[in-house]
Amino acid sequence: MQKTALEEARSASLKIDRQERLLMLEYVTGRSLPTLIARKEPLDPDQSSRLSDLIEQREKGVPLQLLLGTAAFLDFDLEVTQGVFIPRPETEQLVERTLDELNEDPGLILELGTGMGAIAIALAQKFPEARLIATDISPIALRLAERNAERMKIRERIRFVMGNLFGFEGASRLEGRLDLLISNPPYIPTGLLAKLPPEVRNFDPLISLDGGSDGFRIVKGILDETERFLAPKGLAALEIDPLLSEPLERYAETSPLQFKKGVDSYGNLRFLFVRR
Ligand SMILES: C[S@@+](CC[C@H](N)C(=O)[O-])C[C@H]1O[C@@H](n2cnc3c(N)ncnc32)[C@H](O)[C@@H]1O
Repeated sequence: MQKTALEEARSASLKIDRQERLLMLEYVTGRSLPTLIARKEPLDPDQSSRLSDLIEQREKGVPLQLLLGTAAFLDFDLEVTQGVFIPRPETEQLVERTLDELNEDPGLILELGTGMGAIAIALAQKFPEARLIATDISPIALRLAERNAERMKIRERIRFVMGNLFGFEGASRLEGRLDLLISNPPYIPTGLLAKLPPEVRNFDPLISLDGGSDGFRIVKGILDETERFLAPKGLAALEIDPLLSEPLERYAETSPLQFKKGVDSYGNLRFLFVRR
């Protein structure tokens, strides 16, 4: 007897997580799981070959989000393309923890290194009155972020601008005015890049990962300007790595800023909240 679509996905490569196989099945059929369960139909030959193809690519380490063309972030989905960093669950936590840290709704928000735009879009939705600026050094990332903002119908709320950290057009007008400065900057020490899992190393662009010899270069670049750009009661919120603990300690010893560290759901140092 011919297998149903569900049976075909269930019995396909066990090297791939079952949940992922079911997402691929929904993708190739264009039907939701409950519909597939109710209909008990087999896959047509085209669907069957597309499913095998996706599974093969996944076995080779292509991230699922790239195969499906979308990534979930908090409660929405965004378009993903090769050449732009795919957001991780830690970054969802960065947004959630930042919301906890804010004492009032921010009026002016800057995100440095927006990638596909996930953080800026989440904040634009959360704070409908806020003005947002989102930057990136990568034009590919900025184009994708703009498309994603369009898709979420908030394109006109966010000014996307290319730049190297605070070196972007109009930056000087933001001095002393930012209620929220947020960033998930590159923070992997250069020497460790080659040791990252192939799924990260081969698919996330190097510029989104490389934090210089000690991983602290870009974070330091942001912290050096934080006092100048934050409003008196403003907050800077950064995603970091436990490896930055030492350079951060040294930096904090001579900095006029106030630092508060935060851990992720694994208990690892992951967030840094900074005030003037
Ligand atoms: C780790 S990714 C984070 C992307 C996105 N914000 C997220 O959380 O998914 C870092 C981003 O910073 C950008 N970037 C790297 N160096 C930069 C710089 N000097 N100035 C601005 N953006 C930079 C990269 O292109 C990349 O999109």
